[in-house]
Amino acid sequence: MQINIQRNIDVSLSNQIYQSIVDRIHSGLLEEGLKLPSVRNLSKPLQVSLVTAVKAYKRLEQDGFITSIQGKGTFVKAKTKENLSGKETTSSYVWQLSVQDYLPRSQFARFHIVPQKVHLSSSMIDPKLLPNRYFEHEVHQVLSKNPELLSLFGEIQGDSQLRCEISEYLKRSGVLSTPENIVVTSGLQQGIDLIARTFVGPGDVVVMEAPTYPGAIDIFSGRGATILTVPVDKDGMRIDILQRVCEKHRPKIIFTIPTFHNPTGVVMTLKRRKQLLDIAVSNQCIIIEDDPCSEIYFEKKPPVPLKSMDQLGHVIYLRGLSKTIAPSCRIGVLTASGSIFNRLLAAKANNDLGSPLLTQKAILPLINSKRMIDHKKKLRTALKIRRDLVLDLLTRFSPEGLSWTVPEGGLNLWISLPTWLDSHLLLSESKKQQITFLPGSACFPIGQENNHLRISYSYVNEEQLTYGITTLCTILQDMISSKTISENTPYF
Ligand SMILES: Cc1ncc(COP(=O)(O)O)c(C=O)c1O
Repeated sequence: MQINIQRNIDVSLSNQIYQSIVDRIHSGLLEEGLKLPSVRNLSKPLQVSLVTAVKAYKRLEQDGFITSIQGKGTFVKAKTKENLSGKETTSSYVWQLSVQDYLPRSQFARFHIVPQKVHLSSSMIDPKLLPNRYFEHEVHQVLSKNPELLSLFGEIQGDSQLRCEISEYLKRSGVLSTPENIVVTSGLQQGIDLIARTFVGPGDVVVMEAPTYPGAIDIFSGRGATILTVPVDKDGMRIDILQRVCEKHRPKIIFTIPTFHNPTGVVMTLKRRKQLLDIAVSNQCIIIEDDPCSEIYFEKKPPVPLKSMDQLGHVIYLRGLSKTIAPSCRIGVLTASGSIFNRLLAAKANNDLGSPLLTQKAILPLINSKRMIDHKKKLRTALKIRRDLVLDLLTRFSPEGLSWTVPEGGLNLWISLPTWLDSHLLLSESKKQQITFLPGSACFPIGQENNHLRISYSYVNEEQLTYGITTLCTILQDMISSKTISENTPYF
């Protein structure tokens, strides 16, 4: 278990240890019942005092994450007594526990495998809303025209014909790129990973929005980055705060999701986009513009991407296709310029020698087709209906004390609960009713806030949405009422 301690940030060492262990438990990397190192063995390699380690363990125990058993040690809290220490003594893989890893968190690994009826946790598109039939047809066509395709290696950078189409496709949203400065990645996720592998090492400062996309936090924390955060309001990242953070810490990278931000759904204004670019220029740093959803707008088109205003090559632009065509193709787009681009292309070569050719060829005729334009129109209408339904249900059934964002596009909506209410408790209740959502804590790199949740309205149909949201509201009402009752009950 590798814990990254940062000594140059405003978070105490014991809180950093606490957070790192919580992240691992939430990610399923530290299993129920697993024995943790003693305070002495924890503090020594981290070069922290025993008092610091004890403080972290105490808080973990108070918050219900671990249990200490006198004479036996400290364990990740187990639901049953038998699970406690069982793994340690019976597993023939005990030796594996001593193998150091560099994987501090992977929030998705946990939340995406839970078999539930109503997946409000899946920020993906309902398969019924995607152009599967067109795509199936194209896959057949590609293989029947060129049966040898599967025995060929594609270009590392991505199929050249596809890169020409992508360059046209990006032009329509104002991003000027040439086929030569595009890399086809295996989803946006790989684009983030390539950038992190290339430019982020232990202690490098990465600024992220808080909250932000958990998959990106997982990657940057895995690189040992010092992650600093800037809050998001209804107009996107707070640029005034970013300015102060940059003056003090000189970040190497600013990661942003300016359009239909995940998890809140908000859009950064044009004014803030321009200010953000100015900050990157004056601090000589890289902006990663993560854009999976800008085509899914409900009424008006969002402002132009940062990349379209980038004169000096500060922005690495990532565009995803998972939300509009076929997520299982795992196709994403990365565009950048200058030596930054060359280094990222080299990273792609090291990483996988190129993305699968079959899916690139199959997507080729679709990407700029009239069919796709029609499909996107229908998709926007269908998702708007679902978003409206959720907003309506929340307005009618949510208990007092809740607030939520009103996204003008994208797939997600962010709900804030009263500060005392922990969304993990809500999740364990809602799972009993076969409903999942993403607890907001997954979206904070540091200083996690537990009273939020992300609801995705894009994956489940209207009937399931109605069941899911009304049931969540009922559970919340019960939780709030029982607190009020217990507070008002006098002690005799
Ligand atoms: C903000 C953001 N970035 C990146 C990704 C990863 O997308 P892809 O499926 O293209 O890898 C997602 C997926 O949900 C996302 O929401």
